[in-house]
Amino acid sequence: MRAPPGEIMFPWLRRSHEMEVTPLDWAEFFGNDNPVELDIGCGRGLYTWKASEANPEINYLGIELDYKTARRAAGKLYKREIPNARIISGDAREILDKLIVNGSVQAVHFYFPDPWWKRRHKWRRLFTDDFADQIAEVLQMGGILHSWTDVEDYFEVISALLEHHTQFETLPRPAEQTPDHDFDYRTSFERKKRKEGETIYRGQWKKIAERTT
Ligand SMILES: C[S@@+](CC[C@H](N)C(=O)[O-])C[C@H]1O[C@@H](n2cnc3c(N)ncnc32)[C@H](O)[C@@H]1O
Repeated sequence: MRAPPGEIMFPWLRRSHEMEVTPLDWAEFFGNDNPVELDIGCGRGLYTWKASEANPEINYLGIELDYKTARRAAGKLYKREIPNARIISGDAREILDKLIVNGSVQAVHFYFPDPWWKRRHKWRRLFTDDFADQIAEVLQMGGILHSWTDVEDYFEVISALLEHHTQFETLPRPAEQTPDHDFDYRTSFERKKRKEGETIYRGQWKKIAERTT
């Protein structure tokens, strides 16, 4: 079954540019006071869907730039009427800046960001020091950033930025799990890359301080 047009999928799917530019009140947005986690660049939403089903006491917001892809992610939630997961389509940098209250998120998931392989395109990579600052802002104290990728040099850049960031502490790398079935991967890209035999680099970092400047 194809997902219906976006407007019909409200409240599972919203477009950031159609939303009021005021920070989201999570209790109003999700209808409860449960903790919130973000899946940035959620793609087709496998993680947002599986995590929200596995952890009904946590609210998940998937953020996806590409509207068609965001619709596919939202379709999974809409069909199952999942109460604790939503998708907003838009640029994560703007959404973090304008819609997410500082210190309001218990975890950020950032899986398989676009690698922009060509040297002249690398500036397009999402994870920069400004982006690390944005993530630090929205995380609550003790909140965790999870990031996985198959692109070794991108992982090294992310790790180095966070290693030197005064607000993060590097945690031990999570071990690889053996999937039980085809949906038992963290994300669609993890499934694709592991089936291709690629190494996956997994990291997690904890927010340990507020900004001082
Ligand atoms: C390689 S895919 C990975 C998707 C998913 N996380 C996974 O692991 O299967 C990267 C995703 O990030 C999205 N993306 C890229 N730039 C973005 C931005 N500025 N804001 C939100 N999403 C973005 C892309 O549209 C794409 O769906």
